[in-house]
Amino acid sequence: MDITNEIHRDYLNKADTAAQMGARLTRRLLGFARQRQLKPTVLNANKHVLAAIELLRSTIGQHITLSSDLADDLWSILSDSSEIENTVVNLVINARDAMPRGGTVTIETRNVSFTGLEAENSFGILPGNYIRLSVSDTGIGMNEVVKAHVFEPFFTTKKANSGLGLASIHGFARQSGGDVHIHSDTDHGAVISVFLPSDCETVA
Ligand SMILES: Nc1ncnc2c1ncn2[C@@H]1O[C@H](COP(=O)(O)OP(=O)(O)OP(=O)(O)O)[C@@H](O)[C@H]1O
Ligand SMILES: [Mg+2]
Repeated sequence: MDITNEIHRDYLNKADTAAQMGARLTRRLLGFARQRQLKPTVLNANKHVLAAIELLRSTIGQHITLSSDLADDLWSILSDSSEIENTVVNLVINARDAMPRGGTVTIETRNVSFTGLEAENSFGILPGNYIRLSVSDTGIGMNEVVKAHVFEPFFTTKKANSGLGLASIHGFARQSGGDVHIHSDTDHGAVISVFLPSDCETVA
């Protein structure tokens, strides 16, 4: 092959990769900026968790086992369905990235009620009824430094990512009157739990 052609092809490949990264970053930034315009309806989060799982099944890769454990009496919430789906997709993709050699991702939903004391001591949220949406994995886990920064926009330990996934989820949860909790240790996987208020205590 002509050496000049090869150099040109190399430049074009690099330009193409840079353009794709730019497009991805723009999409993530738009999503991040959009978070102030939620469109809440009364919904059952399980339905949207299942929709996200359906989407992920074909794309996540065979080395990852996706399992779910959804509460069949889950309380309804007033929330934005696309934010629930984005949350699941982002958390499962993070879990996949944390398990390069494969593993299991478990998505769980539960009803939880916090008394005043519990809410004040362990959670930055008001006492009351919430649903908890957790995504756990068996991956590399997070050290203390990573845990201290994960909710900051643009914080990433990955080469080609924007570091907006957890910042967006955190923004969405806080804006909804909930919160996000992380339980993780290096080499011991991670559990990311998103708490969203359920004001109705009914099953949608
Ligand atoms: N399940 C996980 N296990 C281990 N580390 C994680 C996990 N989820 C997130 N992290 C760490 O937190 C960082 C921030 O995550 P976040 O989703 O905000 O950004 P990202 O995945 O790096 O980029 P983006 O989501 O924009 O593609 C990650 O780079 C990674 O270091
Ligand atoms: Mg991410």
